[in-house]
Amino acid sequence: SQNMPAQRPPMGWNSWNHFGGKVTDADIRSAADALVSTGMRDAGYVYVNVDDTWQGQRDANGVIHPNERFPDMKALGDYIHSKGLKFGIYSSPGPKTCARFEGSMAHEEQDAKTYAAWGVDFLKYDLCTFQDVMKAEPDPLLRKKLMVDAYTKMGAALRATGRPILYSLCQYGFDDVWDWGPQVGASMWRTTDDIKDRYERMFIIGNSEAELARYAAPGHWNDPDMLEIGNGKMTEEEYRTHMSLWALLAAPLLAGNDLTKMSPADREILMNKDVIAIDQDALGKQAVRVYQRGEFSVWTKQLSGGRTAVGLFNSSWTNFAPAVDLGKIAVEHGGHIHDVWMHEDLGVSHGELSLPVKSHGVRLLIIDPQ
Ligand code: GLA
Repeated sequence: SQNMPAQRPPMGWNSWNHFGGKVTDADIRSAADALVSTGMRDAGYVYVNVDDTWQGQRDANGVIHPNERFPDMKALGDYIHSKGLKFGIYSSPGPKTCARFEGSMAHEEQDAKTYAAWGVDFLKYDLCTFQDVMKAEPDPLLRKKLMVDAYTKMGAALRATGRPILYSLCQYGFDDVWDWGPQVGASMWRTTDDIKDRYERMFIIGNSEAELARYAAPGHWNDPDMLEIGNGKMTEEEYRTHMSLWALLAAPLLAGNDLTKMSPADREILMNKDVIAIDQDALGKQAVRVYQRGEFSVWTKQLSGGRTAVGLFNSSWTNFAPAVDLGKIAVEHGGHIHDVWMHEDLGVSHGELSLPVKSHGVRLLIIDPQ
């Protein structure tokens, strides 16, 4: 028996980026309803993840209970499941979570059983105050061992429940988590500290995965953090860049917006079928950054069927039209070029093609040998 294997990068929604510490049972139910009514569920977004601040106190037997904002977790799980969705929850290996709610330290097996009884399908396990436990250990190797042991313990506890629960590590990429994540039963692991709803932060986080392509594969994925699309502080162009980069990175796609108030642009960006298909491609390859000069970069992701996804990124403040030798890429990888945001066929290229890329923008292409 093993934890829930993720053959494709997991997709869903998480409460943190929009609701933060104020999230309620009603917010989660509305999000579940909206996943269905907007078409997000049918586009693949199936996890409904309650992040930090759902926890209440432990009872005399040490059993964790939700706080007053979450009257009945089993009923919430049932509601989510009744919509054809999956239920995610959040905890920490430390005594407290990042928002200082109850963590799982010394209660791992008990908590895993409680989650399984509630019908939980996904656990995000966030280092948080376990960093204080680690600080007390001066030897860096032993410090790493403390952390790996703590993550191993919860991975084993989840497996022991017999319920497939996807295990998502959140420890900001310390100690090369991509090396040991698979061993603790994780399906995904965060590679950095938190994202913000700002182009600069988003783009730095995405680019920090440039060296990590070989660690992504069906079953386990690098996680550059949740999506900010629809939260309002980036332009549409910047959100297209965000979605494109995450898809090229074969990143988990966890929307983080208020799903009950999606603009047409939010819907188009989050539900572009071609872009989702790039993310979810069966080969499970993460893109490689094949070119970078100044504020222009090119990423390529190998897709099934001999196709290649290509992203051209302009992180400067001005629009420009770099001459890209797509002909070379096309000759190496195929021929026919399709622009997935413009919904436009660019034909076959045999040499340099000059494609305008807007400031902070992207051109996302699929090159197909057919
Ligand atoms: C950390 C995580 C975030 C979120 C918060 C909750 O900062 O990285 O994704 O879960 O904790 O407190």
